[in-house]
Amino acid sequence: MQYKYEDYLRSAQYIREASGGFEPEILLILGSGLGALADCVADAASVPYEDIPGFCPSTAPGHSSRLVLGELEGRRVAVMQGRMHCYEGYTAEQTAYPVRTARLLGAGVMVVTNAAGGINLDYRVGDIVLLSDHIRLMGDSPSIGTNIKEFGPRFYDMTYAYSPRLRQLAREQAEKTGVAVREGVYFYFPGPQYETPAEIRAARVLGGDLAGMSTVPEVTAANHCGMEVLGLSLVTNMAAGVMDKRIDGAEVVQEGNRAGRRLETLLRACLPHM
Ligand code: HPA
Repeated sequence: MQYKYEDYLRSAQYIREASGGFEPEILLILGSGLGALADCVADAASVPYEDIPGFCPSTAPGHSSRLVLGELEGRRVAVMQGRMHCYEGYTAEQTAYPVRTARLLGAGVMVVTNAAGGINLDYRVGDIVLLSDHIRLMGDSPSIGTNIKEFGPRFYDMTYAYSPRLRQLAREQAEKTGVAVREGVYFYFPGPQYETPAEIRAARVLGGDLAGMSTVPEVTAANHCGMEVLGLSLVTNMAAGVMDKRIDGAEVVQEGNRAGRRLETLLRACLPHM
């Protein structure tokens, strides 16, 4: 399936009508176990994905499936409480569909959070990592197919995929709020199985610090349509083979819930300056 520009216009119009003409400045995508922040949004309109034309429901554990629109720290935000993943059977285009829709609604900034496995041996479970870049060797680009020129050019730059300005802001606010952050490169694995230890060793050699199954389709689409991106990962487990034990999906969600507060503090501190 390839979406047309008109499909995105229709989705944006539906959300506009469902939210009383709300125009978000910032799109927030909340990952595994990190969705609670959406409950803090003031004067919120909540729109289930299943009601929005073109949106797909999120079926992953720890993910709700609704778009919350309202104010947070004085900014107009659209919060995706739950996201889509390619491992749910969605294409990268479908997974990134809400990003382009948010762009049409007016969002110029995207903040994306996720749970990830720590590849970097200096990381610890519970670390928050500011994304400096990503590596995608597997999985499609959301821009495959006919280019929609209203969003951006056929070939587009990814040099500053994770905005240097927003990374600097996050570092400053981390310092101010006392929330420790690391910095690293996200290595995309489409999943849904966790990686093998050999895959993780290979990713480490190639420059990956974190392993994850999300984020890259959305960040790629956001760059295509000219949005500034801030990415934050939470290390919910050390990646396969780092420790001599199996990876447990329940622990991933649990760790997300546990560290959510710190990530929330950092995000709230950044929002007014974005
Ligand atoms: N690998 C891939 N995705 C993940 C992991 C992991 O170890 N932990 C949380 N999401």
